[in-house]
Amino acid sequence: MKVGVVGVGYVGLSTAVCMATKHRTVAVDLNEARVASLNAGKVPIHEKGLQSLLDKGLAAKRILFSPSTEGIEDADVVFIAVGTPSSSDGSIDLSQVRGACAAIGGVIKRGKADPLVLMKSTAVPGTARGVVKPLLEQTSGRQCGTGFGLCSNPEFLREGTAIKDTLDPDRIVLGPLDGLSLRLAGKFFKGFYGKRSPPFLVTTPEGAELVKYGSNALLATKVSFINLIAGLCERFPRTDVDDVARGMGMDHRIGPHFLQAGPGFGGSCFPKDVRAFARSIRDAGLDPSVLERVLALNEAQPHHVVQVAEKASNSLRGKEVAVLGLAFKADTDDIRESRSIPLIQRLLEVGGNVRVYDPVAMPAAKAALASRVVYCSSARECIKGADVAIVMTAWRQFKSLKPGDYLELMRSPVLVDARRIYDPRTYAKKLKYVAVGLGMEGTSA
Ligand code: UDX
Ligand code: UDX
Repeated sequence: MKVGVVGVGYVGLSTAVCMATKHRTVAVDLNEARVASLNAGKVPIHEKGLQSLLDKGLAAKRILFSPSTEGIEDADVVFIAVGTPSSSDGSIDLSQVRGACAAIGGVIKRGKADPLVLMKSTAVPGTARGVVKPLLEQTSGRQCGTGFGLCSNPEFLREGTAIKDTLDPDRIVLGPLDGLSLRLAGKFFKGFYGKRSPPFLVTTPEGAELVKYGSNALLATKVSFINLIAGLCERFPRTDVDDVARGMGMDHRIGPHFLQAGPGFGGSCFPKDVRAFARSIRDAGLDPSVLERVLALNEAQPHHVVQVAEKASNSLRGKEVAVLGLAFKADTDDIRESRSIPLIQRLLEVGGNVRVYDPVAMPAAKAALASRVVYCSSARECIKGADVAIVMTAWRQFKSLKPGDYLELMRSPVLVDARRIYDPRTYAKKLKYVAVGLGMEGTSA
């Protein structure tokens, strides 16, 4: 089998290297510099396991990156994995999907293959049927179901565990547009996963698109919901949101996952997907206000972290503030929609002098924050001489900083744990420790 992947972002690249463990794979991207560096074995992102799979694929000559769709002319299966960002009004921007469809349609027209097209890019319900199918038909001059197959096939991989999530997913969701595609897609995925095949869910294309949006929106809702409870916990002495989340999560109907309070959700998916989903719910004449509140709470959460820091240190004006963590979560270098960015913006507005450190996201952060902050080369350098330290990303190396490190290195140690990585029982005893979702001694509702 030969696999084509169009779009080599986080999702496309992870998909391509995993497909190349079994199949000849050609991954196409418009970004020629990215293509060249991948062919030279250089991974452009921080993602566990990606480098070694790329090395293996290149060594076995099973994977190739190309700036042109010529390389996928004889592919049996083609994944669409281009980005689907937000437009300025919050609706989905499908221009990359349209571009990818036109390119794939051209390939189908040249007629060396009648591939199965798998639509992986996250898109609002109706996109596969209303946009992808007609565009592929127009540009190829062929009919879906005879000239090519098409199936909505959303991805659920998380950055940081993208390879594991691709090789060992919870489920494969298929929304075929035609009878032939279902058979082909089933055979393709069963062949790929073999004995370790995940469960399959087959539904309409719109059903598949809704599984993706419904999942992301519910997970984002859990995060905003627990952050709301965290705010309430802060009003009651010694009340800890981690205890509350654990207690809630023991109910098997709720489950323990995605109840970690923090500075809010970021990344390339949750914010844009919840925005796009809310917009499509409104367009359908239904009421999306629950999701709009989820987003509003998320926007407010970095400001809330600044308020927690201000309360603990009276004022931040003229203070040295160390921000530990710029990536939107640990184990990635992605800063898209990272809550650290609005937090830093707010810290600057209230007069703080901001210095920052992240183990892997410094290059991306420099592009976003320019000269507004001071860049440090280690966590210890970042907190040295600082008045306030705010932990924004749960990197393992931050967890190893002990109360003694903060006491020794900071000027007047106030530690704000926005990710709840430290045990309050140890840290609060030794230094001024405040945290999201932790009621301090002496606070009252
Ligand atoms: C992915 C999914 O595709 C998106 O729908 C999902 O919601 C989140 O994950 P991501 O992998 O993060 O997006 O996308 P991004 O990092 O923006 O990469 C997209 C790539 O596609 C870019 O490298 C871009 O150059 C490429 N591209 C875009 C093409 O090769 N051809 C095009 O026509 C358009
Ligand atoms: C998400 C989905 O989980 C994945 O299925 C989809 O394919 C893409 O979007 P990702 O964006 O990589 O994956 O990260 P995820 O682990 O879901 O975290 C999203 C954000 O929520 C991060 O900023 C994270 O820090 C935050 N989060 C997550 C919390 O604040 N608390 C939690 O309990 C969980």
